[in-house]
Amino acid sequence: MNHQPDRARFSAMEHGTQADWTIISGHFADFAKGLPARVLTHLQLLDGDYGGFPVDRLEHSLQTATRAHRDGRDEAYVVMALLHDIGDTLGTFNHPEIGAAMLRPFVSDQLHWIANTHGVFQGYYFFHYIGGDRDMRESYRGHPHFEACAEFCEKYDQAAFDPNYDSAPLAFFEPMVGRVFARPITSIYAKVAEAGAS
Ligand SMILES: [Fe+2]
Ligand SMILES: [Fe+2]
Repeated sequence: MNHQPDRARFSAMEHGTQADWTIISGHFADFAKGLPARVLTHLQLLDGDYGGFPVDRLEHSLQTATRAHRDGRDEAYVVMALLHDIGDTLGTFNHPEIGAAMLRPFVSDQLHWIANTHGVFQGYYFFHYIGGDRDMRESYRGHPHFEACAEFCEKYDQAAFDPNYDSAPLAFFEPMVGRVFARPITSIYAKVAEAGAS
């Protein structure tokens, strides 16, 4: 097989060398730089996806983020609000966990917890209409992030279905996503990302 100069030479990782991993680390840094753009491209899959709701899932996301921004929330919070439902496409039965996993390296424990658990808290507003228990969130009562998650759902998430609301466009949030996703705080790959950024 011809060797490509910009590719590692091993056929199994156990045979990898420093030279191989220097090549791969260089590619990882470039790939990581494209993450915000990939996230925004994926978010746009929610465009036109109504699922019976008054607004489509992209508008709901923009409206949730816009409401959080206009209420004075910081950039990381607004980005969490923007992406909280991004998992709807692939995580149809567990969408909060998808968005939360994407946000995990870049946000605080509290913001991660809100994203990860918002589905249960949002259920307070409708689970009783679909045969469920609206008080499912009570199982988290006393958790340090309970109130923050309840507040996110009350002020921004459950309130973001107004077809007449003047939500900011996706482009407005683009620089925020770029900044929040620029550098991981918590990741087993943080070291290589750090090396690539410097
Ligand atoms: Fe959700
Ligand atoms: Fe939502």
